[in-house]
Amino acid sequence: MTAEIISGKELALKIRENLKRKIEESSAHPKLAVILAGHDGASEIYVKNKQKAAAEVGIETELFLFEDDVSQNELENLIDRLNQDKTVNGILLQLPLPEGLDSAALLKRIDYQKDVDGFHPYNIGLLQNGDETAVVAATPKGVLRMLKETNIPLEGKNALVIGRSVIVGKPASMLLLKENCTVTTAHSHTQNLKEICQRADVVVAACGQPKMIKKDWIKKGAVVIDVGTTRVDGKLYGDVDFDEVKDVASYITPVPGGVGPMTIAMLLENTLEAYFKQHP
Ligand code: GUN
Repeated sequence: MTAEIISGKELALKIRENLKRKIEESSAHPKLAVILAGHDGASEIYVKNKQKAAAEVGIETELFLFEDDVSQNELENLIDRLNQDKTVNGILLQLPLPEGLDSAALLKRIDYQKDVDGFHPYNIGLLQNGDETAVVAATPKGVLRMLKETNIPLEGKNALVIGRSVIVGKPASMLLLKENCTVTTAHSHTQNLKEICQRADVVVAACGQPKMIKKDWIKKGAVVIDVGTTRVDGKLYGDVDFDEVKDVASYITPVPGGVGPMTIAMLLENTLEAYFKQHP
């Protein structure tokens, strides 16, 4: 068996073309404010990619750059100002923040209607309640969209999410639960992870351990979604050993070209949805 590859790159391109058309047809002027504090190399690349993708579909971005020594108070003041600014529809606070800053307090301060990342406790609560109006974090939203677009049946399936971050693991678990999966959320303290993984029909790997998931971890015919992106000597690796696992899985996502491009497409979709909610 060789798994079918789910191309996030192709699907994301289609979604972005649709967004571009929608923006042109509606004469919308969505604007996203991006806050980047410090000089995390990966964050600088992500932000550049997000801004480029936004420009291509017709979403304006404004970047607010700060040094590592920015104070909590300065960021709070900026967020307050952006919350009030009617021309700004979305606010993205790029994580991680430099040490010493309280990211949870800042995320909570963002107007939940401008929270295009879906990290505000209000949106997390809505997601937990299965409320359709929740803004859902871009990466797990992208994971679900890939599963749906590929017509993968989820009802009653055993889904394993490896990772429990606020950005990926927890919301991915909630979304799969909403699809009536039986969800297991594994993390660094989980015992017998390999055995648990062998029972899963759907595996969402988001643990940041390059090539950790091997062929003998995967049930024949399982669907494997790889959220991992770890750079080793300049090359990007997922959490899944793709070359091995593709021989047992039914569907698999590559790294790069899998979940990554979907994350950006979903952020743009969330921004346009925020705009339309603010301009009913
Ligand atoms: N850092 C890593 N992923 C993300 C993301 O999706 N949003 C933000 N704001 N920061 C991140």
